[in-house]
Amino acid sequence: MFGDISDGSRLFSMIRNGDDVTRKEIEVLLGSGGSVASGADRVAAMSDDEIICGCNGVSKRTIVDAINEKGCTSVNDIKACTKASASCGGCKPLVADVLTYVLGADGVKTVKEGICGCTTLSRDEVVDGIGY
Ligand code: FES
Repeated sequence: MFGDISDGSRLFSMIRNGDDVTRKEIEVLLGSGGSVASGADRVAAMSDDEIICGCNGVSKRTIVDAINEKGCTSVNDIKACTKASASCGGCKPLVADVLTYVLGADGVKTVKEGICGCTTLSRDEVVDGIGY
């Protein structure tokens, strides 16, 4: 997927389950009426067994349990506890949505991440430093 990949988990789950989407292709691909649900609303609609992180097979339930039972409050905490978002990182926005769903926006700890593990600088800060 390219661009907005927020429905990737839902579509991946449908493929895994072998869901029949005959005559529902538009609804499945664009959502009901093409409306865009908020991240927390999307997470609320997911089953507990739905996979959030396809790379590491981490379900919504595992992440919710890590938040409620292990005190995880950031994407990095979830990565350390469950391995969700520890590989390609494509699920990070969805992991963040699960955190917001459980803790509310004020309960989520945001941690600045660098362009790689060697620095805390973002891509834009590195480009600015180079002088482009
Ligand atoms: S989908 Fe979670 S790290 Fe790749």
